[in-house]
Amino acid sequence: MKNILESKFIQEFSNVIDRMYLNGWDERNAGNVSYLLLEEELSPYLDLSKKGRVHQLQIDAHKLAGKYVLVTGSGKYFRNVKGNPEANSCIIRISQCGTHAEILWGLKEGEVPTSELSTHLSSHIARLEVDDTHRVIIHTHATYLNIMSAVVDLDEKNFTKALWGLNTENIIIFPEGIGIIPWEIPGNGLIGKNTANKIKTYKIVLWPLHGVVASGETVDSAFGLIETVEKAAMMYIVINNYSNYKTINDEELIKLASAFKVTPNKEFIK
Ligand code: 13P
Ligand code: ZN
Repeated sequence: MKNILESKFIQEFSNVIDRMYLNGWDERNAGNVSYLLLEEELSPYLDLSKKGRVHQLQIDAHKLAGKYVLVTGSGKYFRNVKGNPEANSCIIRISQCGTHAEILWGLKEGEVPTSELSTHLSSHIARLEVDDTHRVIIHTHATYLNIMSAVVDLDEKNFTKALWGLNTENIIIFPEGIGIIPWEIPGNGLIGKNTANKIKTYKIVLWPLHGVVASGETVDSAFGLIETVEKAAMMYIVINNYSNYKTINDEELIKLASAFKVTPNKEFIK
């Protein structure tokens, strides 16, 4: 077997987690990441005929039956993942009936996957229904988005347009806008259910006063989306110290979308 620590997927996963920690978004164990792995990319590194430790799931995940997921462990510090991915994350396989998963690699001391596993699995199911190339869910406590959620009306149209209006690239990168769910207790069934409902339409969903959940076909695309939205939120917070500032108007946003052949959310702009 090849050394899994040298695999592309462990490198990508650890590097993005480290980057988010260095961005100041993921103090302590804030945030969690999951990455759907293909059997053919995993099999050179792990003996997949072996059974793993059973972990009971809180949702029905039969739509992910047999799928492999690389996911962070609950309570594990993002700061430590890159130095020791095996102690801070794990690879699970979803059972055929979808009631449990087996932990095939990592978390050898009996620890469990993230307390947001239901959110991750439900969001993977939701995204796969609309995009069969989907693979990554990132939950992070992005700083300026959290500040923005404290000071801006939690209306998807207003929030999205505040973000689109501040950076020319934004409507091109998230033409569907940002979804918002009500404030919820983390880790329970409801937050996962609400997120999954939103993430079908919006690739990024805001958890007010908590963070965001973003999806992507790759680690880069999920992270790049968060970076883009977070930067616009930073601009929004800084710029609001000024009494008079410019934004990209609706006419310009429509021209931009048309030039880059994206279809912006029709509920937000016509
Ligand atoms: P976990 O440590 O269980 O992943 O929880 C962190 C978190 O961000 C909860 O929303
Ligand atoms: Zn969180």
